[in-house]
Amino acid sequence: MIKIKNILAQETYDIRLSVLRNNIDLPYKFEGDEEGSTFHLGAFYEKKLVGIATFMKSNLEAFDVEQYQLRGMATLPEVRGMGAGKKLINKAIEILEERRITVLWCNARKEAVGFYENLGFKITGEEFEVPKVGAHFKMYYLVN
Ligand SMILES: CC(C)(COP(=O)(O)OP(=O)(O)OC[C@H]1O[C@@H](n2cnc3c(N)ncnc32)[C@H](O)[C@@H]1OP(=O)(O)O)[C@@H](O)C(=O)NCCC(=O)NCCS
Repeated sequence: MIKIKNILAQETYDIRLSVLRNNIDLPYKFEGDEEGSTFHLGAFYEKKLVGIATFMKSNLEAFDVEQYQLRGMATLPEVRGMGAGKKLINKAIEILEERRITVLWCNARKEAVGFYENLGFKITGEEFEVPKVGAHFKMYYLVN
């Protein structure tokens, strides 16, 4: 059974490094990680941290409403398909509803678009390239 808990920024670093920065020379610490409005969620399976996601306030002009950005979304390969990713996002949506946030958005890797669509996210705009990482789409979820 997978449980979701709040975690600290530093607890996300190992999975960020192994899953999201494997052979990719980009920072694994994000500006805003330590902001008071930022929160980090961890998915635990048999007491082990197996999934992470970070949610930070953002001011992207495309969304002229109260908004948060999802960053650093990753689960360990051995738990994929077990619902950890979905539980992380659903817990965040609950928290964002309480905070009266309107939009949750992310820069989704092309391979992960189906995961976000499954959760109700929609694509906006055209495909774009993130140097060193690859093709992405901007995706958003209407929280409130
Ligand atoms: C994308 C990722 C976070 C999904 O995590 P996960 O723990 O496997 O997701 P879940 O088990 O909660 O899957 C939820 C649902 O989405 C589906 N799904 C998961 N990954 C998918 C994908 N890449 N494409 C399409 N559907 C996907 C699952 O089959 C499941 O469907 P169901 O509800 O009908 O059973 C994980 O594969 C990952 O860490 N990938 C590498 C890093 C990455 O790409 N992160 C996202 C960066 S934007």
